[in-house]
Amino acid sequence: MKINFPERAVCYTKMRATVFDHIKFAESMTKEAIATKDQSATVFATTKALQDSPFMRACRREPVPYTPIWLMRQAGRYMQEYREVRARTTFLELCKRPELATEVTVYAAERLGVDAAIIFADILLIVEPMGIELEFAKGEGPQLHNPIRTSADVDRLREVESVDSLDFVMEAIRQTRRALKPELPLIGFAGAPFTLASYIIEGGSSKNYIHTKRLMYTDAGAWHEMMSRIARSLARYLNAQIAAGAQAVQLFDSWVGCLSLHDYREYVLPHTRNVIENITHGTPVLHFGTGTAAMLEAMKEAGGDVIGLDWRVDLSDAWQRLGDVAVMGNLDPITLFTNPNYLRGEAKRILDEAANRPGHIFNLGHGILPETPVDNVIALVDAVHELSRR
Ligand code: CP3
Repeated sequence: MKINFPERAVCYTKMRATVFDHIKFAESMTKEAIATKDQSATVFATTKALQDSPFMRACRREPVPYTPIWLMRQAGRYMQEYREVRARTTFLELCKRPELATEVTVYAAERLGVDAAIIFADILLIVEPMGIELEFAKGEGPQLHNPIRTSADVDRLREVESVDSLDFVMEAIRQTRRALKPELPLIGFAGAPFTLASYIIEGGSSKNYIHTKRLMYTDAGAWHEMMSRIARSLARYLNAQIAAGAQAVQLFDSWVGCLSLHDYREYVLPHTRNVIENITHGTPVLHFGTGTAAMLEAMKEAGGDVIGLDWRVDLSDAWQRLGDVAVMGNLDPITLFTNPNYLRGEAKRILDEAANRPGHIFNLGHGILPETPVDNVIALVDAVHELSRR
C-alpha cells in the first residue's frame, strides 16, 4: 500500500520545521498553505494559535486554562438552523455540498461556543466508493442496499485506493477551515473498521449483529480480508482529511461494545490499530466507542491519543485503568433533557472526577439526540467553561 500524499505532506512539514523550529507542531499545516511561501508568516501564526488551543493542548495532555468541550453530533436536527438548511435538500446531498456542510459545521460550533468543530459528514459516506448503495430513507435511518454477507460478496467490496470520489468531504474541510475562527480546531472523522463493517454486513442499523458475528465466527478469512480493505481505505481517507485541514481525527467505533473482549482482540483490534498507526504523524487521534467498559485497555492498545468514555463507566476509574492517555467524555446525553441546574451539577461531578489532570476533554458519552433542547446544550458548555477555569 502506498499513501502518496500524506507522506509528502509530512516530508514538507519536516523541511519547514527545521527552518522554523520554534513552531513545534508544524505538522498540521495544510498542503495549500505550505505551498504558498509568501503566506508563511500567517500560516505559522495560525498554526500556533490552533496548536495552543485548549482542545489541542488537552489532546497532548498539556495544562489548559479551562477544560475544553465539544459535543458529538453537535450539528444536527436538534438545531432549528440545521433543520432549515436540511429542509432544502436530502441528508446525503447536504453532506455532498461543501458550502452547506461548511455552513452547518461553523454555525453549530459558534452557536454553542465549543472548543472544537467537527466536520459535517457521516461515517457511511465511504461505503459508496467501496461499491455499496447507500440511502437515508425518511425516518428509517441508513439503508445499504447490497450488503456483504459471504466471502464471494467480500470479493466485490472495493478498497478505496483514491479518495477523489470523496473530495466533497475534503472540500468541506478546506472551506470550513477558512471560515472558522483561526484558533478553533477542526476535527475530521470516520467510522472505525468494526462499526463500518457492521453497517456494510447488516445493511443498516442492527440490534443483535447476527450477520456480522456469523461472518466473523464462521469465515475468519473473509472477515479479516474485509476488515483489512476497510482499514486501508480509512487510513487514506483520514489522511486526506488531515491534508485538507483537519487538526485532529476521530474514529467512531459506536457499536463495538456488542463484542466480548476476546472477540474484540481477535477480530477487531489489529485492524483498528492498522488504521491508527497509519495516520499522519503528529495529528491527534480520538478513539471513541460505547458500551466499552470491558475493553478499555484493549482499545488503548489499538491506539489513539484520546480515548472516548461513555456514561456507563466512572471517569476516574476508567482513566486509572487506561493510564497515560487523554480521555474524552462522559456525560449521558439524556441529561440534556433536564435543566441547566441539573446539568451544572453533572458537569461539576465529572470535572471533579477528572480533578484538573491534564488530558480531559469534556463531551457526552454518545451523540446529541434530535429532540434535545438547544438552550440546555449551551448551558452545559458555559457551565463546563466556568467551573473548570484554572
Ligand atoms: O457530530 C457532528 O455534528 C458531525 C456530523 C455527524 C453525523 N453523523 C451527521 C448525521 C457525525 C459525526 C456522524 C457520525 C455517525 N453517523 C455515526 C457515529 C456516531 C454515533 O452516533 O454513534 C453513526 C453510527 C452514523 C450513521 C448514521 N447517520 C445513522 C445511524 C443515522 C440515522 C440516525 C439519525 O441520527 O438520524 C445517520 C444520519 C445522520 N448523520 C444525521 C446527521 C445530522 C441525521 C440525518 C438527517 O438530517 O435527517
